[in-house]
Amino acid sequence: AKQTITVIPGDGIGPDIIDATIKVLDKAGCDFEYEYADAGLVALEKHGELVPEETLELIKKNKITLKGPLTTPVGEGFTSINVTLRKQFQLYANMRPVISFKGTKARYENIDIITVRENTQGMYSGLGQNVSDCGETAEAMSQITREGAERIVEFAYETARKEGRKKVTAVHKANILKSTSGLFLKVAREVGERYPDIESAEMIVDNCCMQLVMNPEQFDVIVTTNLFGDILSDLCAGLVGGLGMAPGANIGDDCAIFEAVHGSAPDIAGKNLANPTSVILAAIQMLEYLEMGDKAQAIRNAITEVIESGDRTTRDLGGSHGTTDFTDAVLERL
Ligand code: NAI
Ligand code: MG
Repeated sequence: AKQTITVIPGDGIGPDIIDATIKVLDKAGCDFEYEYADAGLVALEKHGELVPEETLELIKKNKITLKGPLTTPVGEGFTSINVTLRKQFQLYANMRPVISFKGTKARYENIDIITVRENTQGMYSGLGQNVSDCGETAEAMSQITREGAERIVEFAYETARKEGRKKVTAVHKANILKSTSGLFLKVAREVGERYPDIESAEMIVDNCCMQLVMNPEQFDVIVTTNLFGDILSDLCAGLVGGLGMAPGANIGDDCAIFEAVHGSAPDIAGKNLANPTSVILAAIQMLEYLEMGDKAQAIRNAITEVIESGDRTTRDLGGSHGTTDFTDAVLERL
């Protein structure tokens, strides 16, 4: 049977870059069936809900989802949709690779880092959120469990092994956040000992930010808690040319959602300016997850040629073309 994929175009630049990605998948001969679902502002307007029940059912049924960015309205009563999806489907691992392409405006040419971000706990657990009556004090709770720390660190080491990588760096703030980050670091050290074939390193998060900017080549796989992973993965995107180059896979035990790291980019939405590379790279992660490595490689080659030759690249990459021209350049090479 054909693999069916749930497709959520999402908000802002989402529909354009998802459309580009579907064209690329089809041109590469992937032969998927797609079932479209609404989420985000577009769903709120159509169905009165940010994530309608039908969407949740499709995500569950097909198990594989390709998703555009969603706008979470700022203000009370709206919990982040992404946080909701990640928690609901127990997508505990968020794998965010960044790779340098030559010929972009990026500062570095030899970056190859995967950030493995814990995706359900920590500061984003949503526990204990409250603001006192008079609005003078606000609280939220950070929670890390041994089980949660162990599975994410194991995921990082297993990823390192599978991809023939040499080093895993656990990033933490255990010197200050003694309980939560402390437990994470303790578990990371324990798990690291079970992987003698892979070098284990650890680094405090603020130093890690500086090291990433000064000397990013030292990093291979980074494993960290939710909030630090959110921030570090945008930093890593900046090392390779910006958010338009950064994909992410949200992975659980039997369900996965592939998406860009960035948001709906309201500043460039509807202007044919978005770089679809982020979602195309997420689709490559999806193909690798589905063990369709040949297709993944073919698409990677096509996109590499386009970016490195500067043929019809988007403005964020230093070019002067739009989403559709860039996509055509990729399609022509497939
Ligand atoms: P953003 O990531 O949407 O945009 C940040 C900057 O990067 C903007 O200047 C934008 O133009 C640029 N950019 C992003 N993607 C690009 C692409 N593919 N090509 C070229 N340039 C690109 O962050 P912002 O503006 O803080 O958030 C906008 C909305 O997105 C918010 O409602 C936020 O909640 C939501 N969001 C959703 C995410 C998701 O669905 N996974 C993740 C992050 C934010
Ligand atoms: Mg983020």
